[in-house]
Amino acid sequence: MTTALSSMPKAELHLHIEGTLEPELILALAARNGIAMPFPTLAELRAQYEFADLQSFLNLYYANMAVLVTAEDFADMTRAYLGRAQASGLRHVEIMFDPQAHLLRGVDLATAVNGIAGALAASEAEFGISTALIAAFLRDQSEASALEVLAELLAMDAPIVGIGLDSAEVGNPPSKFVRLYERARDAGLRLVAHAGEEGSPSYVWDALDLLDVERIDHGIRSMEDPALVERLAREQVPLTVCPLSNVRLRAVDVLAAHPLPAMLAARLNVCVNSDDPAYFGGYVDSNFQALVDEFNFDADTLATLAANSIRSSFAPEERKAELLAELAVWRAAQA
Ligand code: ADE
Ligand code: ZN
Repeated sequence: MTTALSSMPKAELHLHIEGTLEPELILALAARNGIAMPFPTLAELRAQYEFADLQSFLNLYYANMAVLVTAEDFADMTRAYLGRAQASGLRHVEIMFDPQAHLLRGVDLATAVNGIAGALAASEAEFGISTALIAAFLRDQSEASALEVLAELLAMDAPIVGIGLDSAEVGNPPSKFVRLYERARDAGLRLVAHAGEEGSPSYVWDALDLLDVERIDHGIRSMEDPALVERLAREQVPLTVCPLSNVRLRAVDVLAAHPLPAMLAARLNVCVNSDDPAYFGGYVDSNFQALVDEFNFDADTLATLAANSIRSSFAPEERKAELLAELAVWRAAQA
């Protein structure tokens, strides 16, 4: 890792906090909570991290959540991520969590929300990182379930800035969640959704037209549809791209075949994110490093990606201006 990359000020907008649970922390939390895990040693657990597709990853991701029981567990996981985020030069992060995944295994909303939000509340002072929290709904569950959980989050005044849509994409199109997004919009929440990761470009069209989202998480399959590319470029819709995730989940064969350079060439508003860094071989700095190694991105391209991440965030305008100014200083210091 070059110092320059990890000192470049940037934001991360596509990050599942449950996807930051490192194998060591999984086993430590299992021991603390007296939970017997199916893969009880580091070697056995690590041997599971080969994925054929999104679903094979999700199976392990949901199984490993069993170790999250108390608010302290959620706080420890969040603090560990923030420390790692600081080391990779992140200055603002917007993290998703999966409330339904915890409810389905008997952990109540307050435990998850209080644990995560408690750690986030100390983030600016402890790590110099501003934060926002997004509740992501599982698209392979019913809309009724999502509506019920959203109502509970609103009733408890959970400190969320917006909602997202994740989990198994194919067969669970945006059209299934129109009322959920209407309800969230009426409540003043910001709207994002995963689309075009494994799903066809029609999922991206529908996330924009039916759900009225402000950002698309992934969106890489948009490149198969020239009319969609034209629209995304014209409207500068932010796309939170996750290169190492796409390789590990076989959305692309190898990094060299990743569409990010073509997306940049098409003037799309793309930024670089780690998705589930404990599962996909690295945090956001590793994603940038892999891109530099593969595509030889220059300082201008890196700064464009970082500026896109800051501008596409839900941070207050003053915070964006502050971070863009820091980025300009970083850019000027590059040869
Ligand atoms: N949940 C966690 N990571 C995800 C991803 N990459 N796609 C869909 N759902 C997810
Ligand atoms: Zn994701």
